[in-house]
Amino acid sequence: MLLLENVDKSYTIPGRQHVPVLHIPRFQMSSQEKVALVGPSGSGKSTLLHMIAGILRPTSGTIRLLDRQLESLSESELDRFRAKHVGYVFQSFNLLPGFTAMENVLAAMRFGQILPSKKHKERAAEMLDQVGLGHRLHHKSGQLSNGEQQRVSIARALVNQPALVLADEPTASLDYANAEQVAALLNDTCSSHGAALLLCSHDLELARTMDRIVHIRDLSQITTGRVG
Ligand SMILES: Nc1ncnc2c1ncn2[C@@H]1O[C@H](COP(=O)(O)OP(=O)(O)O)[C@@H](O)[C@H]1O
Ligand SMILES: [Mg+2]
Repeated sequence: MLLLENVDKSYTIPGRQHVPVLHIPRFQMSSQEKVALVGPSGSGKSTLLHMIAGILRPTSGTIRLLDRQLESLSESELDRFRAKHVGYVFQSFNLLPGFTAMENVLAAMRFGQILPSKKHKERAAEMLDQVGLGHRLHHKSGQLSNGEQQRVSIARALVNQPALVLADEPTASLDYANAEQVAALLNDTCSSHGAALLLCSHDLELARTMDRIVHIRDLSQITTGRVG
């Protein structure tokens, strides 16, 4: 389902051209597989997720997701591909401010275009109900607690039935009780929708609930990736 081969990423920063961050000879994930990506801060986890989502292009190498080579897609093709096939859950939620829970999920559906628009509202409401927010459809994101905001972003990530969900420290902004609930929800929702999950987390308890734990140190042959 996902295959990276010889993926390199360098950042170009003024005065210190091309600082290498990642060199990944090979990384593969199967359909519906759940993988925890662990590693210290600054080791390139977010960079890797951004490349898999097609938000960031690798410096060289190939990323194959479903049946597409990401490097062969134009920016607008990548945007459409991502909207349909990849769900993203961020540490800081990244909901549209001033929009309701429902409107946030609807926005993802408009980009994904997997259902005719007359079905969108019903489907968005169902999805929010699945994450326990059936009673919060019309609350604006700023009126929701952190735990509730992350639930909205899980609903948003899964509403288009993506093949892959990328979650970057999804519980790091939550208190312990909410973190546990959101982690379980993310895990269960990916299972019930048949989505693979690639999750970065410092929470080893959460990482251990995945099928496989990958340390970025073992994945990437660059050990001095920090730009300091
Ligand atoms: N836009 C950027 N420009 C230059 N360096 C960057 C940029 N984004 C990240 N980096 C550097 O790349 C390395 C990996 O960052 P990141 O992927 O955010 O790590 P992690 O998510 O594991 O904390 C860090 O050393 C960081 O400083
Ligand atoms: Mg990060």
